Amino acid sequence: MLRSLLIGNSKNTTTVFKISPKRFSSQLTADKYAVKRGDFAKLSDEDLSHFHSILNPNQMITDTNDLIAFNQDWMKKYTGQSQLVLKPKTTEQVSKILAYCNERKLAVVPQGGNTGLVGGSVPVFDEIVISTASMNKIRSFDESSGIFKVDAGVILEAADTFLAEKGHIFPLDLGAKGSCFVGGNVATNAGGLRLLRYGSLHGSVLGLEVVLADGTVMDSMHSLRKDNTGYDLKQLFIGSEGSLGIITGVSILCPARPKSVNIAFLGLESYEMVQKCFQTARSDLCEILSAFEFMDHDSQLLAAKSLKTTHPLCQEDETGVDSVPEYPFYVLLETSGSTKEHDDEKLENFLEKVMGDETVVDGTVSQDETQLRTLWTWREGIAEASQQFGGVYKYDVSLPLDSMYSLVEAVQERLKKLNLSSTEDESKPVYEAVGYGHIGDGNLHLNVAVREYNKEVEKALEPFVYEFVSKHHGSISAEHGLGFQKKNYIGYSKSEVEIRMIKDIKHHYDPKGILNPYKYI
Ligand code: FAD
Ligand code: MLT
Ligand code: ZN
Repeated sequence: MLRSLLIGNSKNTTTVFKISPKRFSSQLTADKYAVKRGDFAKLSDEDLSHFHSILNPNQMITDTNDLIAFNQDWMKKYTGQSQLVLKPKTTEQVSKILAYCNERKLAVVPQGGNTGLVGGSVPVFDEIVISTASMNKIRSFDESSGIFKVDAGVILEAADTFLAEKGHIFPLDLGAKGSCFVGGNVATNAGGLRLLRYGSLHGSVLGLEVVLADGTVMDSMHSLRKDNTGYDLKQLFIGSEGSLGIITGVSILCPARPKSVNIAFLGLESYEMVQKCFQTARSDLCEILSAFEFMDHDSQLLAAKSLKTTHPLCQEDETGVDSVPEYPFYVLLETSGSTKEHDDEKLENFLEKVMGDETVVDGTVSQDETQLRTLWTWREGIAEASQQFGGVYKYDVSLPLDSMYSLVEAVQERLKKLNLSSTEDESKPVYEAVGYGHIGDGNLHLNVAVREYNKEVEKALEPFVYEFVSKHHGSISAEHGLGFQKKNYIGYSKSEVEIRMIKDIKHHYDPKGILNPYKYI
């Protein structure tokens, strides 16, 4: 039964999704994964003096306590040993720093908001962290074209808030928006919650300013939608994860902000029904469909335990901080358009159809800002919720829609067979394996919530997950990238020829290998 078909009657209050600090894992990445330090120079007092000649003292961090946040990733899975963080304010400063590091063969790690989920943003040994946090100026916005130019260190949410005032929207949205930087988004080619509507950053980024390993500045901050002169060089840096250069500026096309937004949060009886619902949404909601996300039951249970609020589809008599209705799957569907009456009518017709043929068995619809945000927390909050028991092994894969959820089932079965998984027995390292993701983009997130990071669990999962994905003709990374986690597994998704070409490009632009070593490839 669709209890709240009437728009705007959700009983939930807003839950602000925040990224909170997690337990500090002291095991160093280098030890945990037996990595050998590269043949790089070691930081000397002369190096520090040189950086002092480029930067103010407050742009350099050497204090042990202050370094912790830059040495540890968001999942508390990877821990580096950097003794120096540099926070340049200008492209010229980045250029001088890199020219010097290249000359001296000092390894560096470009870092944005440090929300990356594959260990790419933190050092492995003593690489110098070059943080773009102080490069946070909005450079320009052209209201007629929607072309927006920003420094790489502008926080995604700040960029979008600026655009909202001008009636535009940043063509990317994700759960880490309050912490991640636009430069980091481009460097990871982040996909996010509305790729279905706005496409990939490969399409919306118009130009970049990038500092290469030797300090050369590539200025291609274009304002042109069409430019067919020569290779499209900016594309090389979108998704290059700090391995080819430091992105210092981004020019991006930002569409008009939708005036009417609705969210439907639905309960479904099977994964087949999720697929059917998606097909109907695509054909019947068509141009107003802006997100189609799915979550399995156990991902909602995890979210309930962490959000500590009542699930949107709970009946009055079953409300409680961690009770979730027994539907095996949930869908969060968003429509965005310009005319409220038109969108409401379309959505109501759609809901009547999918309820009528029992594709969907329960649901709620919200429209005001507070309710919309609350519903989104049940999807966006899964990332944080998955590591509430100690840690999480994360996989973000592309798979054909029909075989997508079978990866979650295969992993659940494997963990059970190996006797590693239990929600009750605290002696088992794995708490739960859950699935959710951007079904509209063919992108599954498989999270294995663990009580501790554990070699036995990791061995059970890798390369098992990558082999499964390769066998089903998917990609081992749909959006989070390769980073440290997947650097040895690219062969599951790319051919030998492609890998050789990637290595050639890396070697050409960074012959000494100073940019983000031990990662990517
Ligand atoms: P960082 O984490 O600092 O860096 C990521 C990588 O980019 C590193 O390899 C780093 O070296 C490199 N890098 C950073 N800045 C630069 C630069 N200026 N120049 C060159 N290289 C650079 N990702 C998605 O795709 N979709 C999602 O929906 C999504 N949701 C998320 C939700 C949560 C709660 C979290 C924690 C993460 C999520 N992510 C998602 C992962 C992450 O990729 C994004 O958060 C974001 O794009 C990373 O940006 P950042 O500024 O934090 O980069
Ligand atoms: C998401 O879609 O929520 C992000 O990619 C982060 C995650 O994998 O949980
Ligand atoms: Zn995602």
